[in-house]
Amino acid sequence: MRTTVSVIKADVGSVAGHHRPHQEMLNYAARKLREAEETGLLGSGYVTHCGDDIILVMTHNKGENNPEIHGLAWSIFKEVTEKVSRKLKLYGAGQDLLSDAFSGNVRGLGPGVAELEFNERGSDPIVVFAADKTEPGAWNIPLYRIFASPDNTAGLVIDPKLHDGFKFEVLDLIESQVVTLKTPEEMYDLIGLIGTPGRYAISKIYRAVDDEPAAAASTTRLSLIAGRYVGKDDPVLVIRCQAGFPAVGEVLSAFAVPPLVSGWMRGSHRGPLMPVSFRKGQNVVSFFDGPPRVMAMGWQVSNGRLVGVEGIEPADLFEDPFWEYARQKAAELAVYLRTMGEFEPARLSHEEMEYTTLPQILEKLKPRFRPVEEKQVTEK
Ligand code: 13P
Ligand code: 13P
Ligand code: MG
Ligand code: MG
Repeated sequence: MRTTVSVIKADVGSVAGHHRPHQEMLNYAARKLREAEETGLLGSGYVTHCGDDIILVMTHNKGENNPEIHGLAWSIFKEVTEKVSRKLKLYGAGQDLLSDAFSGNVRGLGPGVAELEFNERGSDPIVVFAADKTEPGAWNIPLYRIFASPDNTAGLVIDPKLHDGFKFEVLDLIESQVVTLKTPEEMYDLIGLIGTPGRYAISKIYRAVDDEPAAAASTTRLSLIAGRYVGKDDPVLVIRCQAGFPAVGEVLSAFAVPPLVSGWMRGSHRGPLMPVSFRKGQNVVSFFDGPPRVMAMGWQVSNGRLVGVEGIEPADLFEDPFWEYARQKAAELAVYLRTMGEFEPARLSHEEMEYTTLPQILEKLKPRFRPVEEKQVTEK
């Protein structure tokens, strides 16, 4: 049986700055998803949030980029904006909805999308990650560790199905081009590209031995669509696990040492990606609007539906006390980076600040610059 997992997310407004959505927004979205289950459009629909982003996790049999599924997500985000966010004057109401020109697909309009269509195996565990206060390139290091590094993923060495490696689809977010690279043969080329996460982001991964889809990530860059700063593009990611894919434990272990990612305060800083438990309410930012964080939801995809630990409630994969270690490490790194204030590399590079309000400040200084020669003359 072919099943599609569609994860579609957007920030359409939040309480207390960029903290979290209002509960009414989540309730509204949950009602709409339940209706879609009742009409048979969805097998399952689950709504949650990561920081100020609403995450819709849906299963269905309509394939990727389906107008009905994208239309459902789009109408949920629009209606939540109009009926709740604007009414309550929430912060950044409708933030990620950059255009009204919906014509069957939300890609390019603001919401982030990660979709995987596959033939269900005898048992199909998936992990859905959602991050706040960062960008799609934040998945580059974890995805490299999970699917290309034998130091992270024992299965690359041990499991014959993983041993042939994976094919990475890498998007050039500036030029809107895509390239496919195969590991382990082209691992160094892959690193050469994805080492620049603000420009190159992994969008899809396939298992090399049979081209089975293994992972899908959202790759929206709002500022490149809008031409101005509109918050970061807090990304989502779906990974299939076990029995010929990386084990859930291998997937999670890629987050044990927090990578530094772009985002955080005003989308203008580098900070550690902190793995958090949503059941413990850690999926909301506070310190300097951060640090950037990631949550991990575990499900079985069974007969077109999501099976969690109780009904549809997902396993909270960063709840284990082990992750206190990574959280502590991330907190230390976060405090350390803040000692640098607005100096690179704690603040993003000049090029990456292009879509923020910093260029307006620097513009004012322009008339005051004079040639170096002139200065030397006056000093004589
Ligand atoms: P089990 O033998 O418990 O199925 O575990 C195998 C495995 O994949 C561990 O990561
Ligand atoms: P979001 O991208 O999560 O909306 O955050 C924007 C921001 O400016 C945080 O300081
Ligand atoms: Mg926001
Ligand atoms: Mg956000």
